[in-house]
Amino acid sequence: MIDLKNPTADRVLRAYRSRFLGEPDLLIRAPGRVNLIGGHTDYNEGFVLPMAVDRAVWLAAGAAAGNSATIRALDMRNDEVILPVDHVPHSTGDWSDYQRGLVWSLLEEGLRPAAIQAVFASEVPVGAGMSSSAAVELAFIHAWNLLGNWHLGPRRMAHLARRAENEYVGVHCGLLDQLASACGRAGHAMLIDMRSLDLHPIPLPKEAAVLVFDSGIHRALSSADYNVRRAECEEAVARLAEVVEPPPRTLRDIKPSLLQAHRARLPEKLYRRALHVVEENRRVLLAAAALHQHNLRRVGALISRSHRSLRDNFEVSVPQLDRLVAEAERGGAYGARLIGAGFGGCVLALVPAAQAEAIAARVVERYAAATGSEPSAYLVRAADGVEGLPLSQHT
Ligand code: GLA
Repeated sequence: MIDLKNPTADRVLRAYRSRFLGEPDLLIRAPGRVNLIGGHTDYNEGFVLPMAVDRAVWLAAGAAAGNSATIRALDMRNDEVILPVDHVPHSTGDWSDYQRGLVWSLLEEGLRPAAIQAVFASEVPVGAGMSSSAAVELAFIHAWNLLGNWHLGPRRMAHLARRAENEYVGVHCGLLDQLASACGRAGHAMLIDMRSLDLHPIPLPKEAAVLVFDSGIHRALSSADYNVRRAECEEAVARLAEVVEPPPRTLRDIKPSLLQAHRARLPEKLYRRALHVVEENRRVLLAAAALHQHNLRRVGALISRSHRSLRDNFEVSVPQLDRLVAEAERGGAYGARLIGAGFGGCVLALVPAAQAEAIAARVVERYAAATGSEPSAYLVRAADGVEGLPLSQHT
């Protein structure tokens, strides 16, 4: 449910009125996400267990005359850009590439975005691993969806957003972030099969809370490392396809026993990349089952195992993230792991709800004492996916 009392909603509405001297047609909320478990499985057509979070991008938008979008970003030094919506805008390499990419992706699929004026702001920390970019994409796609009366479903919106990010912005991410922001359900994590896109909401027990610690080390996802990991997974599949019948399409098709049987076909590094993905898929399914049974200790143990595999086999961790995980575990978490692409960003910890604040304080204090820099800590709750509230009779 859209809460008009949300301070960020209020901020974008006020800014819209003072900039465009009228009421917007729509207020949109598009959440960030955390993924409880299932790291780097999405682009391997595996399983993930994300939840949309109660930190969102807020967008006030109104239909405008002409053929362009006038967009003001309150968090980006109050920057304003004007870009065309009737033909493909050129890339400028700044934040507006997301909206430019969306115009491209909509036009590619025969959808003509409306001319708009818009103001947006984000409660999702940028570059921290909570998918602020997917939230921005979903907010704008949904605004165009509602203004154009297109009735696009959440999966279609997620695809359009991912296409913009892959092919226009040039980040080769999977579909996890966009799908979580589009399909979230309050109070639930979602088991998603990234091959069929089947989605099963699983209620989060009241005794569980999720903390996110931001290491403050931000490395752009477009960094070469992410794409290298994707390529390594593809290479492992190609080598296994030479000996496995029927040939696997992705690592999703490889069971742990099959990987062991053909281990000799893979150089050590590729074997470890594949091992992570193959075992991580199993861990996601086990964690989903344990969550159903309210077995939080088991879910936590699987989350921590996921981190160790991301660190040792997939090699996407950095010492600061390992430290945060260790402090969370020592401080009383059921389990903790890095989220997002890795190489910096955030760590998630599943903790007993009654001790969430005490654990957060302990981790922040110990990490700061050890490293000299204080991580930000957030308590996040599972929220609904993107939604829009019509505010005027135009919509
Ligand atoms: C980033 C990408 C996602 C996913 C994760 C790793 O967040 O955007 O598609 O691959 O990394 O699980």
